[in-house]
Amino acid sequence: MKFRSRCVVGVLASLCVPFALSAPSAAHASAEPRPDMARRMAACISCHGKEGKTINTEYLPRIAGKPAGYLYAQLKHFQDGRRHNTAMNGLLEHLNDAYLRQIAEYFSRLDVLYPPPESPRVPASVFARGQQLALDGDKATKVPACASCHGATLTGVAPSIPGLLGLPAAYMSAQLGAWRNGQRKAYAPDCMASHARAMSAEDVNAVAAWLAAQPVPLNGKPANALPAPLPTECGGIPK
Ligand code: HEC
Ligand code: HEC
Repeated sequence: MKFRSRCVVGVLASLCVPFALSAPSAAHASAEPRPDMARRMAACISCHGKEGKTINTEYLPRIAGKPAGYLYAQLKHFQDGRRHNTAMNGLLEHLNDAYLRQIAEYFSRLDVLYPPPESPRVPASVFARGQQLALDGDKATKVPACASCHGATLTGVAPSIPGLLGLPAAYMSAQLGAWRNGQRKAYAPDCMASHARAMSAEDVNAVAAWLAAQPVPLNGKPANALPAPLPTECGGIPK
């Protein structure tokens, strides 16, 4: 399936309308979503669903309820070629920043239905290693605790750091793998690329398996602030 042009794909036609108008510059744009956003975004939901889903071997991540700054950064990453997916790259090609901010804000406000935790398919020692990386990190390999950035409850920190719970292990392993081989990039300095490269393939599987097996606490909403300054600098995120 290819989405080469913003205006030829029937089901996505609603997406192309606002770009014929001259848009305000991103710096002054209001992120308040347009009232008809649910209709405009129906095409996104057809793939992403409300909680994410797997089609064949391709995992479609949930986008509802993720922090707006994170979603906006991902839309820019696809648009600028830091992330790669044929459908996503094609869809976003001509959308302007003001509209991308509205899209991010719209999805961040949607409530989320989290899937139940996965049952761990790894030996107990691997599972324990995953928990260690997630909560304490590993000084020997210089990988900080995932919780030091993704929040004490691992549900993310608004506005820009995503939660790590309620995601399938396969998706997280694939994303960490993409950072390791340069297929996925974030704003420089790309802290996730450094941490993913400092982990062995076994560590990636261990931490993904442990994270995917955790229930999502309370409403799973991102925290409002970091518990402490970031252990390493991440592009676009204030320390
Ligand atoms: C044909 C299916 C398809 C459609 C339609 C689609 N997406 Fe995606 N999207 C994907 C896939 C697959 C990924 C994961 C790519 C990867 O593995 O990096 C993705 C990733 C994303 C991400 C990153 C999520 C994260 O947690 O990092 C965002 C944000 C996103 N899409 C937004 C949208 C929006 C907004 C629309 C509608 C304008 C849309 N998508 C339409 C397939 C689709
Ligand atoms: C220094 C801070 C920092 C640490 C430590 C950190 N992360 Fe991240 N992580 C980030 C940031 C920032 C992003 C968003 C990057 C972007 O914009 O694409 C992110 C994104 C991710 C994503 C993408 C989520 C999605 O929905 O696509 C995964 C998976 C991830 N981190 C896993 C981990 C794991 C596992 C650990 C622990 C081993 C970890 N991170 C440690 C800062 C951090």
